[in-house]
Amino acid sequence: MSSIVHPTGLFDNSSRNYKHIQAIPLAAAMGAEIRGVDLSNVSDEAFAEIEDAVYRHKLIYFRDQDISFEDHENLTLRLGEFGTDAYTTGVEGHENIQPVIKEATTNTKMVFGSGWHTDSAFLEIPPSIALNYGKDMPPYGGDTMFANSVLAYNSLSDAMKEMLAPLKVWMSGQRVVAAMQAEKAAKEGKVGNLGNIELDVDTQKNIEGFYHPLIRTHPITGEKSIFVDKTYACGIEGFKDEEAAPLLKYLGDFVTQESFTCRLRWESKTFIIWDNRICMHQAFNDYDGFRREMYRATVMGERPE
Ligand code: SIN
Repeated sequence: MSSIVHPTGLFDNSSRNYKHIQAIPLAAAMGAEIRGVDLSNVSDEAFAEIEDAVYRHKLIYFRDQDISFEDHENLTLRLGEFGTDAYTTGVEGHENIQPVIKEATTNTKMVFGSGWHTDSAFLEIPPSIALNYGKDMPPYGGDTMFANSVLAYNSLSDAMKEMLAPLKVWMSGQRVVAAMQAEKAAKEGKVGNLGNIELDVDTQKNIEGFYHPLIRTHPITGEKSIFVDKTYACGIEGFKDEEAAPLLKYLGDFVTQESFTCRLRWESKTFIIWDNRICMHQAFNDYDGFRREMYRATVMGERPE
């Protein structure tokens, strides 16, 4: 008789019995809403459960939070040092809180965060965790989707796992740089930007990128995951381009298939935390006519292993 107690059988997104918070799973694949917490004033006991919930559910979100930039900084620092962000600069007086704002009147082909990716995967040390505050969000549209690359790894055959295990993926910002240059050409005279966001990019360094393990192991949970996204994964060490491209396409499509995802519908004053070692995510460019005001911060990770 089967003893499966969770829908996928390959990943358990059920809630633990927490004492200080409640976690309400969002989908079978990942994600949970956390209730019973005021993020401007969190006890150490509640915070330990929040941290546990990030690693268990991969993405967690809190509704109706009134938080300041200082609160956002403090929450980030409870998880580690501030991470490096490859693109944006911070708000005045808070260099680690980066604005991601698109005005109602802005029209752009590509918004910040569009296309499946993990944040700054092309850095030597990509961020481990990301914390975003949706302060003023559209009434509908502007959702963010997430994909669970642990569940994706667990769904591979043993033979495929074995074949992928020794490979290194080349993570590069070349596609994003090309998209920014196209925007720049379309809007003569402006620096590279995505919508309202002026991007501060070290182009050459971002294109150079880094080689990372294609199958990485989470330093805290020990889980293995597929480290291939559709934005930054551009090659495989030792492979010719024409050999790497179909495998990366297959894996990028595989990781982001619907059954491994959840979709977050934002409301104003929603705060989210995701495990950037695991989560692929993408934002949508589908809310022209509405303002979307978000702030983000990241936690310093380590060299992927
Ligand atoms: C991001 O990738 O940090 C942006 C996500 C979003 O705008 O929803």
